[in-house]
This record gives sequence, structure tokens and C-alpha cells, in this order.
Amino acid sequence: MSGLEVRELSAGYRGRTVVSAVSTTVDSGGWLGIIGPNGAGKSTLLKAIAGLVGHTGSVLVDGRPLGSLRRRERARTIGYAPQIPQLPIGLTVTDYVLLGRTPHLGPLARESAADLDVVSSVLARMDLTGLADRSLSTLSGGERQRAVLARALAQRAGVLLLDEPTTGLDIGHAQALLDLVDELRVELGTTVISTLHDLTLAGQYAERLLLLDRGEVVTEGAPAEALTPARLATHYAARTSVLRSPDGTPVIAPIR
Ligand SMILES: Nc1ncnc2c1ncn2[C@@H]1O[C@H](COP(=O)(O)OP(=O)(O)OP(=O)(O)O)[C@@H](O)[C@H]1O
Ligand SMILES: [Mg+2]
Repeated sequence: MSGLEVRELSAGYRGRTVVSAVSTTVDSGGWLGIIGPNGAGKSTLLKAIAGLVGHTGSVLVDGRPLGSLRRRERARTIGYAPQIPQLPIGLTVTDYVLLGRTPHLGPLARESAADLDVVSSVLARMDLTGLADRSLSTLSGGERQRAVLARALAQRAGVLLLDEPTTGLDIGHAQALLDLVDELRVELGTTVISTLHDLTLAGQYAERLLLLDRGEVVTEGAPAEALTPARLATHYAARTSVLRSPDGTPVIAPIR
């Protein structure tokens, strides 16, 4: 499906550069986790890839520069779930998640049975079926977060950018979400880039981790290579011990 290449991407705000010359590639169906301390530039990097903040350098999907795509085509190519979403508060959950299908609608702009199927299956998988007719303004924090992710997943874009998708989710709903994303990756070849502050989850789901600090790439590699107590001390000022789960993935335990 859609491989992604980021070349020498720099981005920032009002002349202040907060992401400096980041280059990376994610194969079609791959999952890259972006980690790093608060303010490192992770969200800015995702927004720049999505074309939502000014940047230099280039982003290519299947070798085509994203900048050359029309809006609709871009929306079918890249899905983005922001860390701090702005919600149109009057909508119901169903109508909001249906907005994810907008880039796929035909000339009459009516959703088809297939669009409704995608929406109802995503709602079910995100445990939102019982809330389908509720107004967004009445949802709890975690329910709202799940609605935002459901909309991005319903978009079925080839590349999915998820900024702290598990924020506010309990451990079971966090796993259900990451499992669903992983399924899309395996079954549809969706290419995933996510930021995740939970480093254990990041290491369990992402195939590779890119550690960003002060806008620069510190390291990129397999989770077991990227997550070392020494790196977490240097870049997060954190005291940790790295354990191993039965399947060999690192478990980051904070040490008091
Ligand atoms: N709209 C903006 N205008 C000005 N500066 C901004 C803006 N958004 C972010 N910044 C600054 O850019 C830097 C990087 O912010 P960014 O949101 O990318 O960090 P992050 O790595 O996602 O952090 P967090 O882990 O807290 O989500 C920070 O210093 C932040 O204050
Ligand atoms: Mg962020």
C-alpha cells in the first residue's frame, strides 16, 4: 500500500525551529513509534508530515510528494488523530465518525451502505456502539478520545498518524485500540506513525522507535535497542529499569 519517506524535514513556529532535519522511512504496513520528552517536537513532526504546519524538506507517500496531492486525495492518503482535538461539539458520535468517510464519498456526497458498515464496525471495535447516538459533548474524556480515534480509523487512509492515541484510555481500551490499529496494518497494509508516552506499549506495538530530543533524532531502531536505562536517564531525566516480558519486548519500570 503506502510507504512513507520523510526527507530532511524541519518545522517550527514563528521562526523558531523545533524539528530539525528529520529523515526516516516507514515501509508499507510498518509501524514507527516516535518517543521523546515533553516539548521534543513529536507533535510538531506529525503535524508537519500531515501538512498542517509549515516545514522544509519533503514527505513522500509511495514516492509521490504529499504537497503535490489535492486536498481530497491527501485526505484519502493520510489520516491524522491530533493530541488535542477540537471537536464539533453538537454532533453525535455516529455523525462525527462518519466525517472520516468524507474523502471517499461520491459526487452526491451521500454515504453508501459500505461507508456505514465501516463506521459501525469501527464503533463496535472501539466499544462505542452503545454511545453511537450520544452527543460528543456528553462523553467522558476517554470516550471522547475513542471517538476521535474512531473517526481517524474510519477514514481508512493508507498512512495513519496517531498523536498520543492512548491518552486518557484505561489499559483495556488502550490495548483494544492498539490491537485494532495493528490489525489494519497487517490486513490492509496501513502504515502507522504514532507518538506514545507509554514506552512499554510503544515497544510492544511499534516495530521501530525513533527517539526525538530537542527536535533532533537521537536514535532510531528496534525497541530493545532504543529503550535503554542510560538513554531514558539522558533524555527524560528518568530513573528506570528495563525488564523483559515473556515475548522479549522491553518493559520500562520506573524506579522510585
Ligand atoms: N502553535 C505553537 N506555537 C508556538 N510554539 C509551539 C506551538 N506548538 C508547539 N510549540 C512549541 O514547540 C515545541 C515542540 O512542541 P510539540 O508539541 O511538538 O512537543 P511534543 O514532543 O509533542 O511534546 P508533548 O510530549 O508534551 O506532547 C515546544 O517547545 C512547544 O512549546
Ligand atoms: Mg505532543
